[in-house]
Amino acid sequence: SGSVRHFKLVLLGDTAVGKSCLVVRFVRDEFFEFQEPTIGAAFLTQSVQLDSSVVKFEIWDTAGQERYRSLAPMYYRGASAAIVVFDLSNKESYNGAKSWVKELMRRGDPNVVIALAGNKADLPASQRKVETEEAQAYAEENNILYLETSAKNASNVKNLFVEIAKKLPQQ
Ligand code: GTP
Ligand code: MG
Repeated sequence: SGSVRHFKLVLLGDTAVGKSCLVVRFVRDEFFEFQEPTIGAAFLTQSVQLDSSVVKFEIWDTAGQERYRSLAPMYYRGASAAIVVFDLSNKESYNGAKSWVKELMRRGDPNVVIALAGNKADLPASQRKVETEEAQAYAEENNILYLETSAKNASNVKNLFVEIAKKLPQQ
């Protein structure tokens, strides 16, 4: 019901953090243990229903492998929203995520809505390398969203997109 609003959303983050798995979970409600690394980028769409409108996301799932890094600006340019993903069991990927956030703030759309996603929250606590409080504090300082997600068990995946949709302009 109500109007449909379209927004470009980009996913950024190091390779193997689970960007494609998050998108596949959100769009098709599936999960593959052996998801292929993305080549270049993949395009998918999915909508979320808010109280009085529908937000349709035009999603660019970018490739995190180093050799594709120079392509990223083509995908975040003009994006209304960005999900920067890291793997909660990989500290290096958290540092990578922080540099993506910095780049988006410098060179992305001035009003871009940014969400930081700590993915693989299903893994046992013994494998965790980034504490919730640390990422939460970083997100608050930078005025961005922070959610811990699991593409594997679906926890917080839809919520991630809904929270972003709520922050997008009403046009
Ligand atoms: P690039 O396309 O190379 O940038 O990687 P990516 O960030 O898209 O990672 P991808 O979605 O391909 O996920 C890599 C692997 O991580 C998958 O094959 C899964 O095995 C695993 N994975 C992804 N999400 C989760 C998750 O939530 N939990 C667990 N335990 N494993 C996950
Ligand atoms: Mg991928």
